[in-house]
Amino acid sequence: MTMQTISDIKTLRETISTWRQQGLKIAFVPTMGNLHQGHISLVDKAISVADKVVASIFVNPMQFGANEDIDNYPRTMTADQEKLQNAGCDLLFTPTPDIIYPKGLDKQSYVEVPNVSDGYCGESRPGHFRGVSTVVCKLFNLVQPDIACFGLKDYQQVQVIQTMVEDLSMPIEIIPVATVREESGLALSSRNNYLTIEEKKIAPALSQNIQWLALQISDNSDFIGLAKKAANFIDNAGMKTDYIHICHARTLQPASEDDKELVILAAAHCGKARLIDNLQVFL
Ligand code: PAF
Repeated sequence: MTMQTISDIKTLRETISTWRQQGLKIAFVPTMGNLHQGHISLVDKAISVADKVVASIFVNPMQFGANEDIDNYPRTMTADQEKLQNAGCDLLFTPTPDIIYPKGLDKQSYVEVPNVSDGYCGESRPGHFRGVSTVVCKLFNLVQPDIACFGLKDYQQVQVIQTMVEDLSMPIEIIPVATVREESGLALSSRNNYLTIEEKKIAPALSQNIQWLALQISDNSDFIGLAKKAANFIDNAGMKTDYIHICHARTLQPASEDDKELVILAAAHCGKARLIDNLQVFL
């Protein structure tokens, strides 16, 4: 089957409403394009749980900070379309900013998910999660999927979206999908394209030190001290740690000794790239 690519809302709604009338289950994979195997694993998951799979490619201006270069964000539409078509995606939605934000960003209503949006990447990138939750809410209203798949590499993003869906009673099941990694352990990310050959050798230090930390916390509850050590190791490997924290897996609050379901969240700069990674730990 040939994948349809649609940019306008009217045609999108008509196509989806035909599927709904046929009683088909729809799964949605929102992306910003520049697709890699991590994105394709989301499409694979979507195919396994639904009758029709819709993906979107939209480089969302609302989630970029003033100092973040949206104009240079990699845009690879033709290659992305081919990958989605080969993966078995049924429909690709590719709106322009005018379609998503016709009044402009300043006059746009927004969705703010408190608490889970606040720390970590929310602190390093003010306004980022407001942009993510707003665009995902809009895309959910346009596509009206039964299911939506998100990559666990963006662990905080998954918690923000899961919380939004619960708080606003959206009838959508969120399926988190495991991070796809290179053999070195480096999590796949569009940002890896910014790494030089030398930096590519350094970058796995992020996941390696998260794993080291996960081993330590099984018998040492000095979470802050251990995280500081891991940050030093990451810095000594040639990166610059933005943050590394041991958190409660759902609330993302700093973990306490009694918590059993934890997540280690980390971000570090490697050359021009800001890389993020995480690991869930069940004690
Ligand atoms: O993870 C991403 O690619 C983006 O944050 C998303 C969820 C597509 C929203 O723009």
